[in-house]
Amino acid sequence: MAKRLAIITAALAMLMTSGCKWWNQRIIIEHAKSMTGGDPESGKIAIQRFACAGCHVIPGIQSVPGAADKKGPSLEHWFDRQTIAKKLPNTPENLVEWIQQPNEVVSGTQMPNLGVTEQQARDIAAYLYTLR
Ligand code: HEC
Repeated sequence: MAKRLAIITAALAMLMTSGCKWWNQRIIIEHAKSMTGGDPESGKIAIQRFACAGCHVIPGIQSVPGAADKKGPSLEHWFDRQTIAKKLPNTPENLVEWIQQPNEVVSGTQMPNLGVTEQQARDIAAYLYTLR
C-alpha cells in the first residue's frame, strides 16, 4: 500500500513538473510575440532560410553545413542581453532594425545586410526573444 502511494506521488510530481515546463514555454512564446509583433515558429524558418546559423550559434537551429567558422557571436540567452553589437540597447525595435540592415544601424559592422523584410525580421526577433 505504502509502495503504491509512493508510485502515485512520484507520477503526480512528474506530471506537474512537465506540465509547468509546457506552461512556462507557452508564456515565453506569447511574451516574445507581444514584444515583437512576430511569430517565433515563422522566425525559425526564416533563420534557416537566411542561414544565420552559418555565422551564429543559435539554440534550436541546426548549424549550417559547410560553414567553416562562426564569424558572429553566439545568440544564446538572447532575451537576457543588454546590447546589440555592443552599441545599441537590446530593445525589440532596435533588434528588428538591426536584422534588416545592420550596416545602417552600426556603420562598419561585419554583419552583412541580408535582405530580410520587416515581417521576417519581426518573426526572427520573436524567435530570438524565446532564448532565455
Ligand atoms: C556572414 C556572417 C553573418 C550572418 C550570415 C549573420 N550574421 Fe549576425 N552578426 C555577424 C557578426 C560578425 C556580428 C557582430 C557584429 C558587430 O559586433 O558589429 C553579428 C551580430 C549579430 C547580432 C548581435 C549579437 C550581439 O552579441 O550583440 C544579432 C542579434 C545577429 N547578428 C543576428 C543575426 C541574424 C538573425 C541573422 C540571419 C538573418 C544573422 N545575424 C546573420 C555575422 C553574421
